[in-house]
Amino acid sequence: MYRPRRLRLNEQIRELVRETQLRVKDFIYPLFVVEGASIKREIPSMPDQYHYSVDMLSEEIKKIEALNIGAVLLFGIPEKKDTRGSESYAQDGIVQRAVREIKRVCPKILVVTDVCMCAYTEHGHCGILDEYGQVDNDKTLLYLSEIAVSHANAGADMVAPSDMMDGRVHAIRQALDEDGFINTAIMAYSVKYASCFYGPFRNAAKSAPSMGDRKGYQMDGANINEALKEARLDENEGADILMVKPALPYLDVVRKVKDNTLLPVATYNVSGEYSMLKHAVNAGILPKEAIMETVLSMKRAGADLIITYFAKEVVKALNGN
Ligand code: PBG
Repeated sequence: MYRPRRLRLNEQIRELVRETQLRVKDFIYPLFVVEGASIKREIPSMPDQYHYSVDMLSEEIKKIEALNIGAVLLFGIPEKKDTRGSESYAQDGIVQRAVREIKRVCPKILVVTDVCMCAYTEHGHCGILDEYGQVDNDKTLLYLSEIAVSHANAGADMVAPSDMMDGRVHAIRQALDEDGFINTAIMAYSVKYASCFYGPFRNAAKSAPSMGDRKGYQMDGANINEALKEARLDENEGADILMVKPALPYLDVVRKVKDNTLLPVATYNVSGEYSMLKHAVNAGILPKEAIMETVLSMKRAGADLIITYFAKEVVKALNGN
């Protein structure tokens, strides 16, 4: 009788037959930018992650480039918020200035910007509210388009709408094309669940809604057909990359989306996933190899790209130190 061999006995053979490979270029590193000068301040809810003022970005971005990380995802935290989130599309807004600074220092780093209003509106919702206090989907599309164009104008290579309004990928694509930004790509937060795991981020971005929640526009964690529907809509509207967020509690969704699209799929290993693992590693409860095991699970589930606050340590491990 044929007896299958176990290929696990020898490290070289294990490497030869390994089915999933992590590449340095699979990782996108999120960065938070704040107003002010000379600021590099640790975010209390996210150990080892910082708020940077624009003047402090150059040092950080050079380190990121030296690690060979290919892309960063930018979030801005403005000083002034208003009902229209006007700082989000201001030509000299916080993100727009950060993009210019990063491109000045390291023109080759791919700059991706989060397109949303929640950090810029007084009420903390991801769009413009109507007279009943509900997000006005179609009015919000006009603002999102303006935000995306202002980011592209500052030099962003790719915009990542995270608001979950219907029709925003189409609206943004059209606005970018009309203004001549035909090469600016769109990574759509296509499948974004209303999740507890964004808690540490909302603390970092001061973007928790002041009333109500985001369940009216973010997805119900129980739904997977809806995820495929959202992914298909974004694909048809012209998205270049589809994203599933969060990652860990939704790896089945990553797989399903991957199997149902020809587009590259990204997953966002969000702040809550980061903080729980980081705390466990810092407390000596888990070894730091748990981080590699975690990001590997995302790749194995079908993610081509992984957005993670662990990007630097992962890449250091991949580079062998
Ligand atoms: C903005 C946005 C959020 C995240 C990314 N973009 C917060 C939210 O939807 O509440 C979360 C990222 C993270 O938790 O790391 N809408």
